[in-house]
Amino acid sequence: MAANNIVWHDASISKEERQVRNSYPSYVLWFTGLSGSGKSTLANALARYLYESSIQTYVLDGDNIRHGLNKDLGFTDQDRKENIRRIGEVSKLFVDSGQIVITAFISPFREDRQQVKEILAENEFFEVYVKCSIDECEIRDPKGLYKKARNNEIKHFTGIDSPYEEPETPAITVDTEHQTIEQSVLQIVQFLRERNLILS
Ligand code: ADX
Repeated sequence: MAANNIVWHDASISKEERQVRNSYPSYVLWFTGLSGSGKSTLANALARYLYESSIQTYVLDGDNIRHGLNKDLGFTDQDRKENIRRIGEVSKLFVDSGQIVITAFISPFREDRQQVKEILAENEFFEVYVKCSIDECEIRDPKGLYKKARNNEIKHFTGIDSPYEEPETPAITVDTEHQTIEQSVLQIVQFLRERNLILS
């Protein structure tokens, strides 16, 4: 049951103060794409690149979060919706704490991604489409899950018997099928520099 009688308490240190101290703004880079498209690999490679440039980020990753915070959730449409809603809220807390957050979730539904966008400010949410065809993801099959899904051992598998809705107007599209992880990292870094989201 939802709680009543709760009152918001303003923080003594504002998000803006934290951002000034860090010398860069805080925001979410929301990676979306099929399983096996390279979201986690790219998120971690980008985090490492920025870390070496003295920019602190934090990666929230689907497989990892589903071991803890979201371990009660499966892969029905309803559970995926709740998965993304919670990650949206967690991301918002990170942004409030002055962090750059990189999320790596399939997040297959446009509506769910849109809802995350709406709880953040205009310049705090950037959708990154990690684009790779289902055929290529299935060839890669790093966890053997596509094979299992084809054999009906896993139900509701994205791209097989559960839909993936491509972003219509992503801030960035990285083509991981045709470019290397390093090229994709540099493409995102260039975007961040152009928008003054990181110092060059
Ligand atoms: S999401 O759709 O709710 O955003 P999320 O990114 O958290 O998914 O988790 C996806 C990961 O869970 C995949 O990379 C894969 O390793 C694993 N997985 C297990 N079952 C499924 C499934 N039915 N569909 C997609 N991914 C699955």
